[in-house]
Amino acid sequence: MEGSNEVSFDEWDEQNNDRADQQTDFSKIVDRRLFLGGSIAIGTSAFLLGTTSLVPTKAQASIMSNGNKFNAVAANDLDTITLPEGFKWHAVAEWGDPLFNNLPEFDHATRGTAATQALSYGDNNDGMDLFQIDGANVMVVNNEYTNRGVMFGYNESGLPETVEDVNKGKMAHGVTIMELAQANGEWSIVKDSRFNKRFTPDTPINVVGPARGSELLKTADDPNGTAILGTYNNCGNGRTPWGTYLACEENFNGYFSNSLGEDTPTTAEQKRYGVKNKDWGYGWAKADYRFDLSKTPNEPNRHGWVTEINPATGEAKKLTALGRFKHENAEVVIASDGHVVVYMGDDERGDYLYKFVSASKFVEGANNDELLHEGELYVAKFNEDGTGLWVNLKEVGMKADETLVFARIAADKIGATTMDRPEWVAANPFKAEAYVCLTNNKNRGKEGKNQPVNAVNPRKNNQYGQIARWEPVEGNHSKAEFKWDLFAVVGNPDVHSDKNAGSKNINSNNMFNSPDGLKFDKFGNLWIQTDGNYSNKDGFSGMGNNQMLLGNTTTGEITRFLVGPKECEVTGLTWSEDYKTMFVGIQHPGEKGDSHFPGGPGTTPRSAIIAVTRADGGVIG
Ligand code: FEO
Ligand code: CA
Ligand code: CA
Repeated sequence: MEGSNEVSFDEWDEQNNDRADQQTDFSKIVDRRLFLGGSIAIGTSAFLLGTTSLVPTKAQASIMSNGNKFNAVAANDLDTITLPEGFKWHAVAEWGDPLFNNLPEFDHATRGTAATQALSYGDNNDGMDLFQIDGANVMVVNNEYTNRGVMFGYNESGLPETVEDVNKGKMAHGVTIMELAQANGEWSIVKDSRFNKRFTPDTPINVVGPARGSELLKTADDPNGTAILGTYNNCGNGRTPWGTYLACEENFNGYFSNSLGEDTPTTAEQKRYGVKNKDWGYGWAKADYRFDLSKTPNEPNRHGWVTEINPATGEAKKLTALGRFKHENAEVVIASDGHVVVYMGDDERGDYLYKFVSASKFVEGANNDELLHEGELYVAKFNEDGTGLWVNLKEVGMKADETLVFARIAADKIGATTMDRPEWVAANPFKAEAYVCLTNNKNRGKEGKNQPVNAVNPRKNNQYGQIARWEPVEGNHSKAEFKWDLFAVVGNPDVHSDKNAGSKNINSNNMFNSPDGLKFDKFGNLWIQTDGNYSNKDGFSGMGNNQMLLGNTTTGEITRFLVGPKECEVTGLTWSEDYKTMFVGIQHPGEKGDSHFPGGPGTTPRSAIIAVTRADGGVIG
């Protein structure tokens, strides 16, 4: 796509990065009988389309867990935020907003410089969480990537043309920590706060866990393999009960190129992770030899991790125990036996769902800082009968560091279930169950892709996505066995009458496609965010722009709560301590050139965190 601004990361990946398939159906190392115990509430036949136990509904009004009612928002293609009556919004932080007083405000013409961007709010916000520290509201937010056509829109080519351009784009990636404060009902950045910090692709980060010091992580600049420069392309996130933030590195592969030429051989491991001799158009190798495979062949191994950030101190560490793949988010739960469980999706067509279980147990009030340094990493097998099994990657017999650096390859050998692009996982705060968005997968059922249709990914050429859920046996998330079903099979019942119409809880009034962001609030409401096709025509007619919906996990009812502006993705969600503000991420409005959100006509479109409040000042939830 070199030269084109009009494709998103996901689309580019679809076009250029077919999953390197090393899986053989018969390389399954584990073949054991499942013994399920405990009480499982999910019906075993519920995963079959048309037999869902969920209540069919055409309701246009919804009620949140603690009693707040709202009327569903109609799908639309407006270039603004649409909310139910009784709710309002304002922009809190927009790409390029300075974090410090000695920096200029965002310049809509120049889009700033590398130097200003390095100390300003990054681009394309994704996962986020708000922390209360010493009375301050501290937001930690991923800045996943940048859209070249927007960032470099001042160049006729819409591409980075100089080293300064390349560095500006690079500095827009990473993570932002910023204090927020509310005045006259509106939230904004507290400039010069002692908490304010940018993580960029150049920030030194400590390495912890079993792959610390691995040969696979060593480079000339880091001969010990213990200190990695930078975190970038962080997508979803996680939050630990001990007050830290988890940033999840996703499409790290797209930034590497090779000065020896595009035909230079790549290794099987590089292929499996989509690392190629040609980057996705950012040109980082022109400004930083780390991203030139001929000069720093191990650099790709140093990315694709989960990074744990302490928002109080700004310290960060890459957690190798959680494995290396294209991380979506990291949903942390304390299992009933005290172990810390982290659920993680690998967002690639046909890749897997993982689970980390800590070696030590969480103890309230104790020092839990190192719980994610050591533990076991599992990958999911979903059986056709509604049961499933987490298989320990160790069973493959690879060396410990290799198992983690090349977790995908270990999972291939296990014969894990190929999934329709696992995006966010969310765990129910009131019940031992978790949900995952399987966003879409054009390769499902396609000849030669080795991703046959299966019960949890039930549609060939899946263009709409589904939300799966599972319950661990004995209500204990650290157990290997689980039962699963599909909470929603997304589709368009106005256009289709086959499986693409979706499950019974999808109707003309709540249609959407490509569920991606997923989070429970503390009241048990399940919020669903979308990153899909916003053409609003053909198979996607009636769906409008990307959106956020409320899911009721008891009744199955899904209701549209928010519609985003044109050409955006809605991703990232957190709340103020009093739950009177909901912070929602609007990513890449106008990614194809047709938006002026949030500034309005004449302005550069900017990714932004918005605050949603109730007009009457009440709690949302
Ligand atoms: Fe960055 Fe899988 O979304
Ligand atoms: Ca996502
Ligand atoms: Ca997505």
